[in-house]
This record gives sequence, structure tokens and C-alpha cells, in this order.
Amino acid sequence: MSERLRIALTKGRLQDKSVAMFERAGLDCAPIHNPGRRLIHSLPNYPLDAVLAKAPDVITYVEHGVCDLGVVGKDTILEHGGSFYEVLDLGFGACRFALAVPEGTDFYQSYKTRTIASKYPEVTKSFFKGKGMDVDIIKIEGSVELAPILGLADGIVDIVETGATLKANGLIPIETVAEVSARLIVNTASMKLYKRQIEDLIEKCAEEVRKSR
Ligand code: PRP
Repeated sequence: MSERLRIALTKGRLQDKSVAMFERAGLDCAPIHNPGRRLIHSLPNYPLDAVLAKAPDVITYVEHGVCDLGVVGKDTILEHGGSFYEVLDLGFGACRFALAVPEGTDFYQSYKTRTIASKYPEVTKSFFKGKGMDVDIIKIEGSVELAPILGLADGIVDIVETGATLKANGLIPIETVAEVSARLIVNTASMKLYKRQIEDLIEKCAEEVRKSR
């Protein structure tokens, strides 16, 4: 008999794309479309229960093994790290981390320590460490584009998808820090315990990734 596996899906931007992928793979996701107040949803035609969670919580649930699998952005993985298998690049949710500065400024000209605002301080830290450059990093929770406008920072490290938000706020991307997309992650113990079932689900997703290329 098949165990019911549990998967954590990232709420928001990745949610619809994750559900669409599973539906293309033949999984009936109707309960997720009409969630009501329920937080956990059993798929009727596949032994899988789904929870919707904030991105960092997806990692926490998978790491602790209360969810066997998760769908989460590489941005969150890079920022939070953690111990799990990253088994598949799902392709959707593609964007990049970029260093952006106010138009007309020369970021690398000054010898003064630069200040960078970001929602992703760890990603920012390792990027500048890789360059051997000392920067001050200020953590911002949202709309980080405001920080240079307000004079708090010389630049930002943030997610860029279409580039519209940077443009609307007079910022230009000057370097790509990392490419980002949604990833399928698996708890390390679950991978051993439910190998056949998890491989079946990975293969279903991989097939959809191949078709969408
Ligand atoms: C993200 C990111 C940028 C914007 C980039 O923010 O932090 O602000 O999207 O998208 P674009 O290149 O297509 O304009 P999000 O919408 O997640 O909101 P937040 O800033 O409140 O986190």
C-alpha cells in the first residue's frame, strides 16, 4: 500500500504554477483551488497531501521531515540554506538576483564602504565576500527599492523578474548575483523511506519540465 506523502507548496507567486504543473502531470488539485479555511489538502487521485506555506517555512517543514517534499524558490534556498535534497529545477518562477544602483551613479568608483539594502542579507554577504569587497548590509523586509531613494543605501540586491520595479524607481541592474527558479526539495530520510513513491513523483515533474522546454 502507498504511504500518503506530504508536500509543502510556496504560497503566492509559485503557488499557481506549482498546481498547474501537478495538474498537467495528472494530479487532481481541485481541493487546493477551493481551500476554504483548511490548511492541508488531500489530493483525491494521488497519495499526496499538500500544505501551502510561506517560502522559508517550506524549507523548515521539509528539513524537519513533517513534509516529505517541497516546492520553493532557489532564492529562499540560497538565503536560508538547510539540509535536504534539491532534486529538480522546475523551470518556472524564473528570475534573477541582481545588484542594482541608482541610474547615473558609479557604484565601484568610490573607496568609501558601500551600503547595500536587501531582503536577502546572506545572499548579499556571500556575493560581496566572493568579490573580496567589504560592504555594510541593511536588512529590509519589502519594497527594498525604496532604500536608495530614501538615501539609506548605495544599492540593492533583490529579485528582478521583468525589471519593471527597478525601472519605475530609477534603478539599473549592474550585475547578476544568481539565477533563480522554483526547485523541488526532498527530506533526506523520506527519500530513503519512500524512495519508489518519491521517485515516481520526481519523474512526473521531470516529464513536465522536459515538455515545457
Ligand atoms: C519582488 C522583488 C521586486 C519585484 C521585482 O517583490 O522584491 O520588488 O518583485 O519584479 P519585477 O522585476 O517584475 O518588477 P515582491 O512583488 O515579491 O514584493 P515585496 O517587495 O513586497 O517582497
